[in-house]
Amino acid sequence: MSAYGHFDDVGREFVITRPDTPLPWLNYLGQDDFFGLCTNTAGGYTFWRDAKLRRITRYRYNNVPMDAGGRYLYVRDESGSDPVVWNPGWKPVKTPLDEYRCHVGLGYTDIVGVKDGVEVRQRMFVPPGEDTEVWHVTVGNRSQDARSLRLFSFVEFAFYEAQNDATNLQRTMSIGEVQVEGSAIYHVTEYRERRDHYTLFGCTSDVDGFDTSREAFVGVHEGMHEARVPFAGRATGSVARGWNPVGSHEVAIDLAPGESRELAFVLAYVQQPEPKFVEPSAARPLGVNTSAGEAILAQYSQPGAVDDAFTRLRDYWDARLSAFQGRTPDEHATRMLNTWNQYQCMATFNLSRSASLFETGIGRGMGFRDSNQDILGFVHMIPERARQRILDIAATQLSDGACFHQYQPLTKKGNADVGGDFYDDHLWLVLSTTAYLKETGDASILSEPCSFADVAPTDAAVPTVTLLDHLETSIAYTLAKRGPHGLPLIGHADWNDCLNLNCFSTEPNESFQLAGDVEGSTAESVMIAGLFLHASQEMIAMYHHLGREDDARRMQAGYDEMLAVLETQAWDGEWYTRAFDADGSPVGSHVNDEGKIYIESQGWAVLGGAGLTNGRARRALDSVAEHLATENGIVLQQPAYTRYHLELGEITSYPPGVKENGGIFCHNNSWIHLAHCLLGDGDRAFEYYLSVCPSAKQAQIDTYRLEPYVYAQTIDGKDSPTFGQAKNSWLTGTAAWTFVVLSQGILGVKPDYAGLRIDPCIPAGWDSFEVTRRFRGSTFHITVHNPDGVCSGVRQVLVDGAPADGSTLPVPDEPRTVEVQVTLG
Ligand code: BGC
Ligand code: NOJ
Repeated sequence: MSAYGHFDDVGREFVITRPDTPLPWLNYLGQDDFFGLCTNTAGGYTFWRDAKLRRITRYRYNNVPMDAGGRYLYVRDESGSDPVVWNPGWKPVKTPLDEYRCHVGLGYTDIVGVKDGVEVRQRMFVPPGEDTEVWHVTVGNRSQDARSLRLFSFVEFAFYEAQNDATNLQRTMSIGEVQVEGSAIYHVTEYRERRDHYTLFGCTSDVDGFDTSREAFVGVHEGMHEARVPFAGRATGSVARGWNPVGSHEVAIDLAPGESRELAFVLAYVQQPEPKFVEPSAARPLGVNTSAGEAILAQYSQPGAVDDAFTRLRDYWDARLSAFQGRTPDEHATRMLNTWNQYQCMATFNLSRSASLFETGIGRGMGFRDSNQDILGFVHMIPERARQRILDIAATQLSDGACFHQYQPLTKKGNADVGGDFYDDHLWLVLSTTAYLKETGDASILSEPCSFADVAPTDAAVPTVTLLDHLETSIAYTLAKRGPHGLPLIGHADWNDCLNLNCFSTEPNESFQLAGDVEGSTAESVMIAGLFLHASQEMIAMYHHLGREDDARRMQAGYDEMLAVLETQAWDGEWYTRAFDADGSPVGSHVNDEGKIYIESQGWAVLGGAGLTNGRARRALDSVAEHLATENGIVLQQPAYTRYHLELGEITSYPPGVKENGGIFCHNNSWIHLAHCLLGDGDRAFEYYLSVCPSAKQAQIDTYRLEPYVYAQTIDGKDSPTFGQAKNSWLTGTAAWTFVVLSQGILGVKPDYAGLRIDPCIPAGWDSFEVTRRFRGSTFHITVHNPDGVCSGVRQVLVDGAPADGSTLPVPDEPRTVEVQVTLG
């Protein structure tokens, strides 16, 4: 509970109870191809597959006021002598409401506004498998008097290619076209030439008017809060020609006391089958064949259709989340695990880092590194989609092992727009693929043909490349690209995009992400060494499973050699160093004056198996506790950089305590949590988890500021005057990794080749917990008892009442429910 709302754990909602949240709080609509960003005041936009190439409605980022533009309903109450105009979501008019609620749900946002006894509910969602956003609108008269209302809908259309739409005004101001057919508004800009798609904005009820020109509806000098039409009271019937096409319907609603009325608006991306055109007529003045759009509107005009679609959405999410449900003694962990963390994993899987309130949809597409990690938190929900995604990502790798750092979801082609030569990228493919293998047991993915991006797949002279070839190429790439200490070269950067050891940028007009040249550089990364160790452990386990013992031995030799290098070259005395710069000087060492200790190399060294026999793992984690941990999470390094270090790049460009410069980067916190789990320290792991858990931030929400239901990428660190303030929520690797922390590290339910391995690492104070896990067709109902108050160690496992041999639960031949009782001690 906070001043702004509360969790409804049974209904799986966060209910926002006042519209003026510290920042706009976001939700996503859509789960397959059609997506919407929707804020708690109905702001946001929609796109199909690709927020850059198929933008359907407009949004102006970083606007004043913040979050302007969206799915607006203007209510004009003409019952009194002076008409009152208001919005159920408060914005844009901001007429004070008598009641306001925004139910943030799974795939839907339900906004309820009440003014002078009139209640308007606007429930927005995208039914599973469809390219249609539905707004289910209910208008009720709770008062004792008859009421006379007019409803005006409003969206502003984008011309699909979002960058062009926002910048190439000399063209875009001339091309806009619409075709209006009754209550259906079709946005058909560019349809005449190369597009075979248009946008439908329709209303399921008869309308009393419409507008399609922004200038007519809003005005030229007006803002959306004073839009002309709702204040004037009548639609103008404008038909946009050029300028800025919008969609708006006018619906008159008269209600007796206690009466209510329902209607729906649909916003659909429609691919029109041939013929594209029909004979122009009064009804279809541009001759656009809109039959496919008409069918959608007709479908949703059937009684019950909207409710059925919403039920399908509910069922969809119940089915997805039933793959993992748990009950722990901690309410924050339980609700994040069961609902919000998994929900956020779906968003990161679908959108990578492309479109949020911090990512504009035109800057970044699907990240190679990012999307591989996203699979770790998603694969249990829809393994088939994870399978396809792994193959799509792998296909953007080049034959020498290098990767395009990102690709556009629409074309699936890699591009270098955000830079390249990140020498960690390829290794994350090993983690995603082995996670898929352990989840599903489906080894066929390894022999799936999957070409390299620079090899024509049809060239008969070239042997078929498989996914396994990609993994082996990735391992070989790291082994080959090493520096003077024998550690992996860092390239442009590793996971930490801002540690740019080959950038040396003195030019204010260049992007750190694109500057510099890695050719011939010898700067090395200790984090990549740790990641390599972990990836090779995964490869070794995979080879054993496949019965390829020679390959396992070969891989083991590579592992042993890298481990020896890391232990001899990268131990700084109390922690692992972070890197060696282009001059061969250490980064993240006691010899540095700033940035003496970094988080990433401590996490990855331990996760890669370093320091386990010589006490260094524990020492390194103690150093993290001593120098980096705070009550709001673990900061990235200390001391934060106070000046620009040319040899380190973007990391030293941020103010101290912010983002990669001493900020709390929640994503890498999870590696420390997992490292503690590996050492059996459940108290520390869980205490750290709670320090970044958004549900636990409600008491300090005015400092934290962002959504309490999803993880943020960063929280300002102790060197910042705004310590504890979160930024960049939703699209962050924190989602997937924290789900791994909770489900596999702490609760210890680990998918493995031979079955489900049970290896919890919990706070000693937990006396029991439960997990229901769907795994390869069967459902495991697991109860873990902790009579001796330990953190880890499995004393006994009973499967269907009988003592089990070891703690890996085999998968039954025929799918069924398996009852498992585990006792720690
Ligand atoms: C940010 C990084 C991000 C990178 C991507 C940098 O400015 O600090 O977090 O990964 O940009 O382009
Ligand atoms: C955000 C990027 O999406 C991710 O790939 C990167 O690892 C982190 N920033 C750290 O710089």
